[in-house]
Amino acid sequence: MARVKALVAGNWKMNGVKASKKEVAALAKRLAGTQKPDCDVLICPPATIVSTLKDAAKGSKIAIGGQDCHAKESGAHTGDISAEMLKDAGASHVIVGHSERRADHGETDAAVRAKAEAAHRAGLTAIVCVGETEAERDAGATLKVIRGQLKGSLPDGATAKTTVIAYEPVWAIGTGRTPTPDDVAKVHAAIRKALEARFGAEGTKMRILYGGSVKPANAKELMAVPNVNGALVGGASLKAEDFWGIISAYL
Ligand code: 13P
Repeated sequence: MARVKALVAGNWKMNGVKASKKEVAALAKRLAGTQKPDCDVLICPPATIVSTLKDAAKGSKIAIGGQDCHAKESGAHTGDISAEMLKDAGASHVIVGHSERRADHGETDAAVRAKAEAAHRAGLTAIVCVGETEAERDAGATLKVIRGQLKGSLPDGATAKTTVIAYEPVWAIGTGRTPTPDDVAKVHAAIRKALEARFGAEGTKMRILYGGSVKPANAKELMAVPNVNGALVGGASLKAEDFWGIISAYL
């Protein structure tokens, strides 16, 4: 198995205002004060505060990302934000195809793929999310659903540098429920296999994050699962101390 440096990413969702920069400052202090964790650290706040948090993260190892982008560079798309705009605001990454966007905005695999392509065009790393619903899981369709989402959502030519996969079972998001480490291992192994089949050596190196109710209390166990190369964290990324508790899995 290739050695893949982990990424611990926080998805703040629709939370955070300018004053939230204090959490970034507190996290930066934690990172500076201890032995460097063996992982990269990313926070994806609402687009309104990407540049504020980028400033707050200055001099630290914390990268800042967006949560979504439009497929086009600019134009008549009221309310939308392009990958180029996120880049300009200081982002290095952007989440695309989060299940909340797939559900709330009807984003299809094709739409997600176009957004990932936009991220690449702008020089951003795309964090492409996949995950089954509870009904799909109960029907035994988890791997079929994940393979289909990967096939449809990932652009050709994706590399380990430009693309990260996040496996987030929809039923585990914000519920406090998580799959067993064995279940996570099975899905991540299937994702790895699909990535290697399509992208060859790059697929071996691509990060596959686990997301869904990752907390300080379960991070170590989940991050130790084979082919889990980090976490995408929602609720527990909002407070520096909680997020640090998860990053600490890599100390
Ligand atoms: P929670 O960590 O709050 O379950 O959210 C996970 C998630 O959706 C991250 O993108």
